[in-house]
Amino acid sequence: MKQIIVAIDGYSSSGKSTMAKHLARAAGYAYVDSGAMYRAVTLYAMRHGMIADDGTPDSNTLAQALPEIEITFQVRQAGEASRTCLNGEDVEDEIRSLAVSNHVSPIAALPEVRHRITALLRGFGHNKGIVMDGRDIGTTVFPDAEMKVFVDASPEIRARRRHEELTAKGKQADYGDVLKNILERDNIDKNRKDSPLQQAADAVVLCNDDMSIEEQHKWLMNLFKLRSTDDSAHRD
Ligand code: DC
Repeated sequence: MKQIIVAIDGYSSSGKSTMAKHLARAAGYAYVDSGAMYRAVTLYAMRHGMIADDGTPDSNTLAQALPEIEITFQVRQAGEASRTCLNGEDVEDEIRSLAVSNHVSPIAALPEVRHRITALLRGFGHNKGIVMDGRDIGTTVFPDAEMKVFVDASPEIRARRRHEELTAKGKQADYGDVLKNILERDNIDKNRKDSPLQQAADAVVLCNDDMSIEEQHKWLMNLFKLRSTDDSAHRD
């Protein structure tokens, strides 16, 4: 089996990262959560007063600060998922908060931020053998990825899943607020000028509204086996 690049794009809270992590583990591939990088930049902007009360980011100041923002992924214990670090500080829990979710889409729409993160993300793919999830992985970051999946689910189901996830972590969250955040992010992510959320022409769509996690894993593994043994998928 050859090493390939797997791009998993889709809507917020559609289950992309659960599927991507599972596939990476099963295939022995690296997993990169591109959304975590946008979230870490957002946290930096929040901490440095670069977001106005109405949510508008100070794009010039943030663009100038980008070279000072170092985002890394660290594994604390073998077998554990990696944790996102911002300039050396573990911010994995903080970047998942609703406060960061509420600010991330306008930050992710800034071209300077996208260019910087896209360059960093491409660096992870040099040796292939990688699963990356996000919004523009199959369209912009790795347009030649051998396997592309676009995950979709209804906003209500996605909000219910995200709400359950936050509650399970002991975080207070109102279902209505979570749904509102998901709809707002969908809107900004789909309509931004620079690499908007859209399905790549050669992506396979998975609508997982009525699928169990096990069914999704099985579906993904079957596609992965096909793509990683298919010689015609070699595009380089
Ligand atoms: O996947 P997530 O919810 O953690 O992503 C957080 C935000 O980052 C999302 O609202 C849109 C943005 N994002 C993006 O624009 N491009 C990516 N490749 C990944 C995430």
